[in-house]
Amino acid sequence: MKEVLEELERRRAEARLGGGQARIDAQHKRGKLTARERITLLMDESSFEEFDMYVEHRCADFGMERTKIPGDGVVTGWGTINGRVVYVFAKDFTVFGGSLSEAHARKIMKIQDMALQNRAPIIGLFDAGGARIQEGVAALGGYGEVFLRNVLASGVIPQISVIMGPCAGGDVYSPAMTDFIFMVKDTSYMFVTGPDVVKTVTNETVTAEELGGARVHTTKSSIADHAYENDVETLLQMRRLMDFLPSNNRSGVPELPTKDPAERAEPSLDTLIPDNPNKPYDIKELILKVVDEGDFFEIQEAFARNIVTGFARMEGRTIGIVANQPMVLAGVLDSDASRKGARFVRFCDCFEIPIITFVDVPGFLPGTAQEYGGLIKHGAKLLFAFSEATVPKVTVITRKAYGGAYDVMSSKHIRGDVNYAWPTAEIAVMGPKGAAEILYRADLSDPTKIAARIKEYQDRFANPFTAAERGYIDEVILPRNTRRRICRALNMLRHKTVENPWKKHDNIPL
Ligand code: HXC
Repeated sequence: MKEVLEELERRRAEARLGGGQARIDAQHKRGKLTARERITLLMDESSFEEFDMYVEHRCADFGMERTKIPGDGVVTGWGTINGRVVYVFAKDFTVFGGSLSEAHARKIMKIQDMALQNRAPIIGLFDAGGARIQEGVAALGGYGEVFLRNVLASGVIPQISVIMGPCAGGDVYSPAMTDFIFMVKDTSYMFVTGPDVVKTVTNETVTAEELGGARVHTTKSSIADHAYENDVETLLQMRRLMDFLPSNNRSGVPELPTKDPAERAEPSLDTLIPDNPNKPYDIKELILKVVDEGDFFEIQEAFARNIVTGFARMEGRTIGIVANQPMVLAGVLDSDASRKGARFVRFCDCFEIPIITFVDVPGFLPGTAQEYGGLIKHGAKLLFAFSEATVPKVTVITRKAYGGAYDVMSSKHIRGDVNYAWPTAEIAVMGPKGAAEILYRADLSDPTKIAARIKEYQDRFANPFTAAERGYIDEVILPRNTRRRICRALNMLRHKTVENPWKKHDNIPL
């Protein structure tokens, strides 16, 4: 018996060493943790149970039959994060550069199948060199089956990808089909083809960082939802994120204890809106003052900053926030902001997360760049997403709600459940100046006359009451009471039941 136990320990120790001490040291030297160290930080203490530790590849080409390493480049299993079950796979860069073989793919598939069957989230930690070159088409087949499982699980369980090293070739498309992608600054990069191929095909000279580093993907391409300073911070933030997310699309949102009273008034909000309607203010101040304990997990903070998206809680229960940001481009909706908002709204709707929308939007951004770039279809994505969403939707118009953007931003007309306005709200087809200049073109040469026309339009529409008279706004509320009003609305909507007409799936303007 003793020998059997010793043999087990020996085999475990061998597997845990992955590609060997020298490669582990090299990993550390680059500022990266190993796959198992990462999992230890991500999961609750001693909760991780590893599967398939002894799996080896079956490749016999290029001398591979002589190089077998237990685990085959990926650590898989399950554990808990703050007590809730989560499945995880972590690429082990010390073993064949974390590259994907057929056996490696099967390990990931097993975990994907278990996560879906047991309706629990799955997190993938990426640090890998793509398809195992020695395996050829077997690796491609493995990727295909992983991708398929990503698609089938989409909208059923949260799928999170964390890029913690190279992520190239076949490795990029699994993350791309998950709900969120996070990166580590300076040590991670993601691209379909690397700098060498780019040089050959397009003759561009770029570094890996310039081509697919965290800065590029959080600010330019919007592939990544956020980037953190190092492995430790990233993994701790993933634990924080998981506390906001439901386990699956039917579980309901998690409920955490909170000491923040639902009744809490915030008098400083009464003076948040500047007297000058063209002066910006920071919408994040409103968000932080309204949500539980000022705890806001922002998604895509560095991209399309004219719209703010992220998770928070009200009375301990997760909500999604979508808010125009007057500090950036006056909060206008452009193509990027529309896409960003739409994707976030759809995530919330998939997972039954109520959506709170703060509106201060002067309209859609005019110009050839936007029109040529497909603003019509991108704007339609946000309109489509809000319209199809059946989760509780509470909207607060703080200032401008002009034009089509008024309709788009979770208005009553597209099934906003409770639509509030602050007394400072202006709900109109456009701003008073623009409106008067179109309606009274003949008066343009006379500054006194046009000023009077602007004032006339302002008096008529630069308030919430014209909309409230029609029932487009349910109530005009005091800014200080915004938290209390939202909490009450969410409680009232707790058992909301709305079903869209049966369809195979919709045809959102992609
Ligand atoms: C097999 C690989 C590998 C791979 C790396 N290794 N990538 N082994 N298949 N794809 C091995 C290396 O041989 C090396 O082994 C170890 O991993 C570490 O790699 P290094 O090159 O020494 O590390 P580094 O300098 O940090 O460079 C990392 C890297 C580079 C940028 C990821 O290894 C690289 O460019 N790899 C190839 C990337 C690639 O082209 N992949 C195929 C993409 S095609 P030793 O034994 O020396 O430690 C693809 C198509 C799928 O994925 C499409 C599906 C849709």
